[in-house]
Amino acid sequence: MNILIAFYSRTGNTKKISKLISNSLNCEYEEIIDLKKRTGFIIGFLKSGYDATRNKSTSINEIKKDPMIFDLIILGTPIWNKSMTPAMRTYIANNKSKFKKIAFFCTEGGKGGIKTFESMANLCDIEPISTLEITKKEIQKGYHLEKINTFIQELKSK
Ligand SMILES: Cc1cc2nc3c(=O)[nH]c(=O)nc-3n(C[C@H](O)[C@H](O)[C@H](O)COP(=O)(O)O)c2cc1C
Repeated sequence: MNILIAFYSRTGNTKKISKLISNSLNCEYEEIIDLKKRTGFIIGFLKSGYDATRNKSTSINEIKKDPMIFDLIILGTPIWNKSMTPAMRTYIANNKSKFKKIAFFCTEGGKGGIKTFESMANLCDIEPISTLEITKKEIQKGYHLEKINTFIQELKSK
């Protein structure tokens, strides 16, 4: 199966998980870059959270890998205000017509993953074959590795 991981990460947690999944599956990845400034407390946190809550799109980098040629797209996003990030929303809106199968993962403080996966599935117009929610605490304690393994086994079985 030809697999692509498409992820957005502001502070590195989602990127770290993306790389671990990509190494395990030996698959390609596309890093989605938000071209809006997202650093600092006011813009990075408050404005970004507001943008996510209001279902805002944003400007993203030019995509290098055509989702059309992949059998499965794994979409990874941090949770912002119990929502997907504007960068992930924009990527999905621009590319969903090319998705065949999808799976989701997120990193989060601890709240909003399930609700976010529901809105991502609605936006994609198809259901994910598997999902994975990882908290910052789980990453710190090293529990993420086992969860990633389970996720990968699920993907391989479908
Ligand atoms: C603007 C903003 C809003 C956030 N809102 C939530 C939230 O609603 N629920 C939650 O569990 N974590 C929330 N977080 C925490 C992030 O989801 C978490 O730190 C994530 O791992 C960051 O991923 P990254 O390092 O890939 O950017 C928020 C973080 C930011 C910056």
